[in-house]
Amino acid sequence: MEDSWKDKISTPALLVYYDIMKENIEKMAKFAKENNVKLRPHVKTHKCPIIGKMQLEAGAKGICVARVGEAEVFAENGFNDILIANEVVNLTQIKRLVELNKTSLVRVCVDSEQNVLDLNKIASKNGVNLEILIEVDIGLGRNGVKPGEPALKLANLILKQPNLKLVGLQGYEGHLTSVIDPELRKTQTEECLRLLVDTRDLLNNNGFDIKYLTASNTVTYKFSAKYNGITELQPGTYIFNDEHYYRVSPEFDIGATVLGTVTNNPGKRLYTVDAGLKATTNDNGNPTFKNYPKCKIRVMTEEHSIFRTGPKDNFKIGQRVELYPSHICTTVNLYDFFTIIKNNEIFDKWEILARGKNY
Ligand SMILES: Cc1ncc(COP(=O)(O)O)c(C=O)c1O
Repeated sequence: MEDSWKDKISTPALLVYYDIMKENIEKMAKFAKENNVKLRPHVKTHKCPIIGKMQLEAGAKGICVARVGEAEVFAENGFNDILIANEVVNLTQIKRLVELNKTSLVRVCVDSEQNVLDLNKIASKNGVNLEILIEVDIGLGRNGVKPGEPALKLANLILKQPNLKLVGLQGYEGHLTSVIDPELRKTQTEECLRLLVDTRDLLNNNGFDIKYLTASNTVTYKFSAKYNGITELQPGTYIFNDEHYYRVSPEFDIGATVLGTVTNNPGKRLYTVDAGLKATTNDNGNPTFKNYPKCKIRVMTEEHSIFRTGPKDNFKIGQRVELYPSHICTTVNLYDFFTIIKNNEIFDKWEILARGKNY
């Protein structure tokens, strides 16, 4: 049987198709190079040092992580240019961040005066200098100081801190991930990035010398790369893509699926698969079926999903099915390892070492 390798896998399992992932890595790296912009992939999508190394080998300058726990895992595995593209406010986490900076470069974003003071205090207690970026809220409304004067005020406070060095600005236009129309997405991306570049200009007109501007994601990278002033892209999801993002960025094939086994046939055209909410998240909608576009999930519970088939689809108990997760980043965080598929065979198992390291 062509796909007999699937029967050897204990389900539910997270599959990664090596060739698709590699092509996605190379596509983004080539794009960044051609557009003369640095690439710093966000590894929160895969949390796997083996994959992070493939991204560096393809030309990425360093990596982004979201959490100190992730930074620790990647630093232990040889990564020494890490940006925590997020704020670290918790004092115990600041201590760990400072500790990490004794051996690796781990930059962090700030967006509040209290956080600046705390970072400086703990850094100076430990004789460490920290490089930091101001995160500017360019529209998402989640993190970041407001553009313009509030950012300048924070920059002036940082200037007074002997153990902190302001090296750049971060903006994240994450609220544009569902804007399907490319023209609208381009206009809206540019409106966001203008806030970041204008803030840089304000700071530089007031004595700063900021050149490093980092932004973007899998659905805005094309426009961000061409926006004058942006020096670095930080996309994450492109590496595997998922059902949700594929609608907006179809240039990246979906390279990760969840393999499940059909366990029951509770009604006419209704089947149960052993992949529920502990196997694939549904925060961006229910997963869909690879090769069976007419199958639709009706209910997801912890261990199972119940789905209705198309009129011509036939399933047997024990049959393997593959699901496309709607949000691959939260799905990856559920697994200990990827099963890597290459040349239609099981190639390897790669540990997701930073899985669960969200603290
Ligand atoms: C600050 C930041 N930068 C970059 C990314 C990467 O975005 P994406 O996975 O959509 O490419 C994220 C995603 O959550 C993010 O929070």
